[in-house]
Amino acid sequence: MKFSDRLVSTLRNAQSVCALTGAGISAESGVPTFRGEEGLWKKFRPEELANFNAFIRNPDLVWEWYAYRRKLIRDVKPNPGHFGLVDLERCKKHVTIVTQNVDNLHRRAGSENVVELHGNIERSYCIQCHAFVDEPSPEPLTSVPMCVTCGGLVRPDVVWFGEMLPVEAFSKAESAARHCELFFCIGTSAVVFPAASLPYTALDHGALVVEINREETDLSSRAQEVLIGKAGEILPDLLAQAGIRHEEHL
Ligand code: APR
Repeated sequence: MKFSDRLVSTLRNAQSVCALTGAGISAESGVPTFRGEEGLWKKFRPEELANFNAFIRNPDLVWEWYAYRRKLIRDVKPNPGHFGLVDLERCKKHVTIVTQNVDNLHRRAGSENVVELHGNIERSYCIQCHAFVDEPSPEPLTSVPMCVTCGGLVRPDVVWFGEMLPVEAFSKAESAARHCELFFCIGTSAVVFPAASLPYTALDHGALVVEINREETDLSSRAQEVLIGKAGEILPDLLAQAGIRHEEHL
């Protein structure tokens, strides 16, 4: 793909970059997205599984769904899209990766400054005493575990529909969006707020906003650059054209 001179030179010169990522960046690793034809929400409705009331109504069902996704995630590897962001972080002063993904693949790829807006599926906590719970081993797959300290139900440490985002994480994400020169919005349908507000914050503060997605989204008419295609192909290509060194990743 041929990128615009504006994009390549901004990427070359910017010292402060923020990237908001969504399920699409992990799709090429084999993690299903939520929306769209192949999306998880085609098979399950969010209100059935991803909210607190659903968990209280049927904790085993919700636990089983997360156990299935946890297993799926453990069996996959980060892809060139994740590794591109690692390369970027290594050569710039300030890179913040703000992710809606709970799959931990950015950290597994080697990214360090990762802000998790929707939690992390690898962690769990007790809904009663709020203690974080070490992974029970072997992990129960079909029934929810109980807290060893107080007997409360253990839930995944992810943000469900109707819940607040972690305050500190969101404020770090907003600050990165306000202060960056270049903002990437990668592999997200950009419909779930408040995460979806971040590209607009970046726009309002003068950043060049670049969307990378397989298809157009609500953001596309506002982003200055819209790159249609797979993140795992476009990102490495773009970084190479801007002269950003690619390192071998395990
Ligand atoms: N490269 C780039 N984009 C891709 C790729 C790819 N290889 N594959 C899919 N996409 C795009 C799709 O076109 C879509 O716009 O990724 C986006 C995925 O959108 P969603 O499934 O809606 O995922 P996301 O935006 O992360 O959802 C936000 O909603 O269900 C909640 O909490 C959940 O964090 C999630 C939030």
